[in-house]
Order: sequence, then C-alpha cells, then structure tokens
Amino acid sequence: MIKIQNLSTQFSLKSKNLFKKNILKAVEKVNLTIPKNSVMGLVGESGCGKSTLGRSILRLIEPSEGEVYFYDNDILKFTNKEMSSLRKKLQIVFQDPYSSLNPRMTIFEILKEGLDIHYNYSKAESIDKSMDIITRVNLKKDILQRYPHEFSGGQRQRISIARSLILNPEFLVCDEVTSALDVSNQAQIINLLNEFKKELKLSILFISHDLNIISYFSDYIAVMYLGKILEVGTKSDIINNSTHPYTKALFSSIFDISKRGQKVNLLKGEIPGSINKPTGCYFHTRCPYAKERCSHEVPIETKISGTQSTYCHYPLNSK
Ligand SMILES: Nc1ncnc2c1ncn2[C@@H]1O[C@H](COP(=O)(O)OP(=O)(O)OP(=O)(O)O)[C@@H](O)[C@H]1O
Ligand SMILES: [Mg+2]
Repeated sequence: MIKIQNLSTQFSLKSKNLFKKNILKAVEKVNLTIPKNSVMGLVGESGCGKSTLGRSILRLIEPSEGEVYFYDNDILKFTNKEMSSLRKKLQIVFQDPYSSLNPRMTIFEILKEGLDIHYNYSKAESIDKSMDIITRVNLKKDILQRYPHEFSGGQRQRISIARSLILNPEFLVCDEVTSALDVSNQAQIINLLNEFKKELKLSILFISHDLNIISYFSDYIAVMYLGKILEVGTKSDIINNSTHPYTKALFSSIFDISKRGQKVNLLKGEIPGSINKPTGCYFHTRCPYAKERCSHEVPIETKISGTQSTYCHYPLNSK
C-alpha cells in the first residue's frame, strides 16, 4: 500500500568554513514496501535515520529525491492542498507523550482539533466520535473534559493514539511510541495497536530501538544503517535467516540462547559519523567478514527470496 522508491533526505549543516556547506544524507536511496494490514518494523542504531525516514514518507520533512506511492499515487508530487486532504489517511504518533499533547487544551479539544481540520462534523458528532475512540483506547468517557497533565505516560500515549486514529487513517508511523513507557504500559500500547491494525486494516511503520518489541509486533523488518536499508524481509527472514552481517550482529545480541539470555554484543567499534561516511559498503569498517571489494564498491540489492532483500556483497547463509 505504501511503496517507497529511491527516497533520499538530506540536511545542510552550517560548517566553520563560510563558503562550504556540509550535507548530511540522513536517508539515502531507500526502497521499502509496506503492504496493507501489516507492520514494518524499522530498526537501527541511534542516528541512523529512522525518524527522518518516517517523517519523510509523510512529507513532514521534504525528501530531496525519490517517490512515495500511496496506492498508485506518488504523494511527493501532490500539491499542498492535495496533501492536506490526504493527511487524515497518513498519521504519526511520537515517542514523547508529554510534549506532543497541548497542555492548554482538554482531551476533547485535542481530539476535535483534528476532526475540524479534516471532517465536517457537528459538535454532537465530534462528541460521539471522541467518546467512541476514547473508550476504544481503554479510557473512560468522562476524561474528555480533563487536561493532559492529569494523566500518566501510558494514558497520554493512549490519548495520542486516539488523536491519530479518530481520523480513520490507513497508514500510521509509530516513532518510538513505547520507549518512554514501563513494561506493562508498553504491552498495553502494543496490544492496542494490534487491535486497531486488525480492525482498521492499518499499515504501520513501527520504529523502535527495542528488538524484543520489534520482533513481537512486526510482520516485516527493515534494518537501517547510516541512512540506508541493509536488509529487509519478513520477521522470520530477518530473525531466523538473516544474511547481512549487520542484521546478524544486531539480532544476535538478543537471541543468543547459548549465552543463556546474556546480552552479547557482536558489534565492535563506533558507528561512523553521518557526514563522512565510509566508502563502499557503509558497514565494512565494522564488519567481521569484510573483504577488499567491500571498502570501495557499494552493494546493490540482492534478492534472497520473494520477501527478502539484502545489500551485501557476501550474504551469509543464503541458499
Ligand atoms: N533537522 C535536522 N537537521 C540536521 N540534521 C538532522 C536533523 N534531523 C536529524 N538530523 C540528523 O540526521 C541523522 C538521522 O537522524 P534521525 O533522528 O532520523 O535518527 P534516528 O535513527 O531516528 O535516531 P534515534 O534512534 O536516536 O531516534 C542524524 O545524524 C541526525 O543528527
Ligand atoms: Mg528517532
């Protein structure tokens, strides 16, 4: 339903040299397809470009090149007007349930604000819709007259989800929505998203650092490194049959049973800076299998199966 092709987003940064601008390529030539009614987990170390990718897809940041197809339309070609009428279909929920809700508005005003922008409901209809969505995120109807500060982190996150879902979206970007929550609230949020996914046939780009949650909730997983996707596949492709050394290293830190649940981290060395990225395969400076070719030749997509692709010159365990 969402098909991203060749998507790049860059930022220009001020440098000490007045005549030279530093370009930071936060997202580089990303291809990704998110089918209807499925969750694409997006993982990768801090700063690799996950949030920038999520926001670029929704045009909250303007990409510098590429295409983003929503069904058959490239939404990067949409005018501002076309884009604003599409916004209700494409929603985002952020990490921080404290800063993303306006403290001066009641919960009802927060929910109604989106409805007023995108739909033409009467006040009575807005009240009905708000009551309905608020009970579906397991909160009581009488909270509608209260203010965000009166709620816990988990409750606020449910309010943020309600604010997005009241608009009846088809695609949702969840950017670290469970990161600020404790374990029991994390589970509640995931269960809630799961119910809505089934009911609304939602497609979700689920960005998270937490590999356990990603592994539990995703149908597909994409692994990102320094702005690029290095491997993508179904959850099982990525967890049981990963072919990129980076994916292996990342996931082995949680799934190595021989270490009796101990965290082992196979990733040696620092992640390189995003401005002066390595040549060739970006991962070669940390890759235990890197050969000469990896340091100068950029890997192109290798199809491992109908669902799995890797960007590595020497994929592991590929049949
Ligand atoms: N508005 C901006 N201006 C300049 N650089 C930016 C901007 N937003 C992000 N960046 C840079 O782009 C890169 C990708 O950042 P991004 O926030 O997308 O990473 P991330 O994977 O979401 O990280 P995290 O896991 O910490 O949330 C980083 O190097 C970051 O410093
Ligand atoms: Mg982020």
